[in-house]
Amino acid sequence: MPRDNGSQLRGRHFLDLDRIAPADLRRMLDFAAAYKRGRPPAGAAKPLAGKALAMIFEKPSTRTRVSFELAIKQLGGDAVVLERGSSQLGRGETIADTARVLSRYVDAIMVRTTKEEKLLELAAAATVPVINGLTDRTHPCQLMADVMTFEEHQGPIKGRVVAWSGDGNNMATSWIHAAVQFGFELRLACPPELPPPADVVAWAQARGGRIGVTADVERAVKGADCVVTDVWVSMGEHEPTNQHNLLRPYQVDERVMSLAKKDAIFMHCLPAHRGEEVTAAVIDGPQSAAWDEAENRLHAQKGILAWCMMPEGWGAKPAKTPSRRGAKR
Ligand code: CP
Repeated sequence: MPRDNGSQLRGRHFLDLDRIAPADLRRMLDFAAAYKRGRPPAGAAKPLAGKALAMIFEKPSTRTRVSFELAIKQLGGDAVVLERGSSQLGRGETIADTARVLSRYVDAIMVRTTKEEKLLELAAAATVPVINGLTDRTHPCQLMADVMTFEEHQGPIKGRVVAWSGDGNNMATSWIHAAVQFGFELRLACPPELPPPADVVAWAQARGGRIGVTADVERAVKGADCVVTDVWVSMGEHEPTNQHNLLRPYQVDERVMSLAKKDAIFMHCLPAHRGEEVTAAVIDGPQSAAWDEAENRLHAQKGILAWCMMPEGWGAKPAKTPSRRGAKR
């Protein structure tokens, strides 16, 4: 199924950041921030009461699984989990049939899968919204938490500089999408053998995105507001020959961080491998925002779920904070 057949897809799917209007992405983050502050949008403390989310995992997860399950429960709904090995997916039932059946039970489907084609097949057959919980190509839910985290630490991301050091993988692709949709500069330092997809870079540049790709980490990181990296070998992949050797010069250590702005933050979507893509001194150090980033998966998922599952009212403005004088203690 070609990637650009979005017009054939029904429902309000959260498939990738490049498919969603920037204003909607921003409102999802506003919704997430309102809940995080304990100020849910007016009249919407449990807006997903009575709704259910199915989560399909073809690959392992800690953060995505826990944060989605808790997010929908905290919004009043419920979640069920299907894993490949313990469902009929593992015995050959098609993705399309699974989508048709789940659409009769639940109000949205989140899927983590090995191939983007499976996500698109699911979305084409489902009659409820489908959420991309990671594919071989992208990880858009993670980027919503990442932008939220950046802004909590550094203020508005528009016009700021993020440096990526490492493999031009699925996270790098979602960072490119985010740079265009949220209007920041992204400098990717990648080994020439592991660049981000050329079509994604071309897509960004055609939209005026400020995306730079270099093999030179120092050049990418110099003066950046944020430095990001990811594991050298994504889960489920066998280590391609020489990948560790190619990525060793892209390790984020204290010297690399010292080239960024003095108040730059470090982000990592986790899980991390200390001593490989990042040193312990950086990820456990004062510039690390990795733990806020992990927490924000929970909050960001709420904005995504609300956008998908309550299109009629998800964008309601947050309730006003009661004045201190009149507030109950
Ligand atoms: N970052 C992330 O997606 O974590 P999990 O693989 O634990 O879900």
